[in-house]
Amino acid sequence: MSRGAKRPAATRRLLRWFDRHRRALPWRRNRDPYRVWVAEVLLQQTRVAQAAPYFERFVDRFPTVEELARADREEVLKLWEGAGYYGRARRLHEAARAVVAQYGGRLPQTPEALSRLPGIGPYTAAAVATLAFDAPVVALEANGLRVAARLTLERGDLRRPVVRRRLERALAAYLPAERAGAFNEGIMELGETVCRPVAPDCPRCPLRTECRAFRELANPASVPTAQARPRRPHVVAAVVVVERNGRWLVRRRPPTGLLGGLWEFPGGKPRRGESLTAAARRELREEAGLTARELTRVGVVRHAYSHFSVELHVFQGTAAGRTRTERPDALLRWMTPPEFDRLPRPKATIKVLGLLTP
Ligand code: ADE
Ligand code: SF4
Repeated sequence: MSRGAKRPAATRRLLRWFDRHRRALPWRRNRDPYRVWVAEVLLQQTRVAQAAPYFERFVDRFPTVEELARADREEVLKLWEGAGYYGRARRLHEAARAVVAQYGGRLPQTPEALSRLPGIGPYTAAAVATLAFDAPVVALEANGLRVAARLTLERGDLRRPVVRRRLERALAAYLPAERAGAFNEGIMELGETVCRPVAPDCPRCPLRTECRAFRELANPASVPTAQARPRRPHVVAAVVVVERNGRWLVRRRPPTGLLGGLWEFPGGKPRRGESLTAAARRELREEAGLTARELTRVGVVRHAYSHFSVELHVFQGTAAGRTRTERPDALLRWMTPPEFDRLPRPKATIKVLGLLTP
């Protein structure tokens, strides 16, 4: 059963615990490699409870790699709207096309082949290989890293690659020759439900006799050591909602980079010494060659993204003068509100819409 593990008793206890306590999460209904992959991409920066409805919608609309590969980018992003880290959706889509083109729609089974696909990093490659195909490799995401750090009393910064490699090597000693997938998912599950960040439930933990943090520390939760987080940049910008004949002027962000490919209202940061109103007018002129009549300030929205926070000062007006919009690269468009609703937009833009009087 757990032949191969250097610590077979602990491995057996973990597998038995997982068999009894595993939650019936939507991506656990079967081990279809495509579903495993979509779930791992979603779960990378998103909690289980938040990821579950996105997962259901996504695999409902795109049940197979082929269907995802055939979809257009905009629809994929729309399904991801609100989940954040939009680059993940874009690369998942690109990788689905590569899987169809290079592998006839069947995901490769080794971490090496998987990691050659676009957007599949070392974690996702290891996770898909082990969860879908039982590859005998360790796949440590944030929860597993915390469990491993406590087991081994790791004092280093878990963001450092050397520390991760050390923890992967430590966990490899527990890896069974069979059921490697259940072992890895069991470690993740243990981190989510028992070995929680602030209040680990050590008395209920199947690994407590192995665990150095439990045996040696008064407070096992003091591992991993809290690391100073880099401060997120704060962006203050003016946003202009300009209307003409019942349509709004909207733009699409460049496909890569922050909030890549999402649609929003025009606007930008004020220059040094420039007022927000002046910035709003200038952005409109520079971007679309437009002047707004009766530009009024409608309010402020704030939103914290993962890597930065924004404070958007929202202005509303009607368009005057000729426009040089409708550019062939489709970066700028006049759209009715329902048309705009069908496109993928950043959270802050959805908040801006909440300020507008219909
Ligand atoms: N976090 C990352 N992958 C997971 C999975 N398969 N189940 C639960 N939590 C996870
Ligand atoms: Fe985590 Fe406590 Fe289990 Fe150690 S004994 S792995 S600290 S829950």
